Amino acid sequence: KNEVKLKRQVGLIGGISLIVGTIIGSGIFISPKGVFQNAGSVGAGLLIWFACGLLSTFGALCYAELGTMIPKSGGEFPILLEAFGPIPAYLFAWTAAVILKPSSLCLLSLTFAKYALTPAYGNCDSVPELSTKFVAASLILLVVFINCFSVKLSTKVVTFFGVGKILSLVIIIIAGIVRLCQGYTENFQNSFEGPTPGIREITMAFYQGLWAFDGWNQLNYVVEELKNPYKTLPRALIASLFIVTGLYLLTNVSYFTVLSLDNLLQSPAVASSFGSVVLGFMVWIIPLSVAASVFGTCIGSCFTAGRISYAAAREGHFNQVLAMIHVQRYTPAPAVVLNGLIALLMVIPNDFDSLVNYYSFATWAFYFATSITVLYFRYKMPDRHRPVKVPIFVPIIFSASALCLVVAPIVDNPEIQYLVAVLTMLFGLVFYFPFVHFKVKSQTIRK
Ligand code: ARG
Repeated sequence: KNEVKLKRQVGLIGGISLIVGTIIGSGIFISPKGVFQNAGSVGAGLLIWFACGLLSTFGALCYAELGTMIPKSGGEFPILLEAFGPIPAYLFAWTAAVILKPSSLCLLSLTFAKYALTPAYGNCDSVPELSTKFVAASLILLVVFINCFSVKLSTKVVTFFGVGKILSLVIIIIAGIVRLCQGYTENFQNSFEGPTPGIREITMAFYQGLWAFDGWNQLNYVVEELKNPYKTLPRALIASLFIVTGLYLLTNVSYFTVLSLDNLLQSPAVASSFGSVVLGFMVWIIPLSVAASVFGTCIGSCFTAGRISYAAAREGHFNQVLAMIHVQRYTPAPAVVLNGLIALLMVIPNDFDSLVNYYSFATWAFYFATSITVLYFRYKMPDRHRPVKVPIFVPIIFSASALCLVVAPIVDNPEIQYLVAVLTMLFGLVFYFPFVHFKVKSQTIRK
């Protein structure tokens, strides 16, 4: 037996690129439609984007306190385990394996397909549904293959395609600034005019916007690999969210220097519509760099799926098979394949909005559970060593908002999809009692 040990090799810059690299993916190129449609007006939509950035920053601050107090890899898992015991921690690992990871992979591949096919069909409205599904499914298979094939290759792909994200955002922002200077500001006049959104619309707008910001918790998955974690973790989190919020706001403003609210709502791929107006013969560069950006995020996101199983199996919560590392390739192949299979099933309905809703509902339930542990630990263990101690209003505002995000849509309009999500989460308990409860003992990962 040879335990797989992780080395401390991620510094501040590495940490920032890991967070920014995960956060920027599909959302900024696809969520604006959902945000502005639900918000009802340009002004309200931009406010919601800003609020999403602020909320994610508050979340990241809570995670900085937790991650430095309990410096273990595995994200929410070790925190929930220490605060509330094995059942909530297990439910988190289960939900991540069957809902969160597959649905994010599926959402990313659908976005990839939409953008990758735009140049081929000239115009994104005419991309047939079946080709989108086909390309998305092929991408999932490719991502699973690369992730099973080699860790080195996966990390190289992530870094290489990471350039695509920044490139596409920078092109959009520069074009937007030029347009602003040329005086194209008509879409910002009377920017708050429009229907007033209800609770349901506001929540849906937040779900879409928060999808674009999701990934701010990624560094907590690799705390054990950080150099000087007490300093690196909080600094990297704050710097990254500052960068991303800035880029996102500028990008959204840029969209409106070209598209009116109606244009934006009708476009299935906003950035492409934007490019076709301002970039002339260079139109192809936007869909291409968006597809590259999303491809990188897919590989990276599939990569962390293995880390969760690793953390859960270390505590004896997951079947050894799921946490098994491929003998020659050192990749968590079974976990990755399972993730891919469920993602393939999710491609079939090709319904982006409900997938975002499922994902957000489940993920915010766990963000809520994790953020209240900040308050819980402060009360229970006031004297514990906390290298980072955030002002108390941060966890209070964050957990209250998270709770609203989870509860508001149900109270407002109890739909069957939330029941399905809750039942799927609880279904994990069927395996917990026979397989985990009676034999929780630490297991080492089989090599
Ligand atoms: N924010 C990313 C996007 O806009 C999605 C991140 C998915 N979450 C994750 N933990 N991998 O596409």
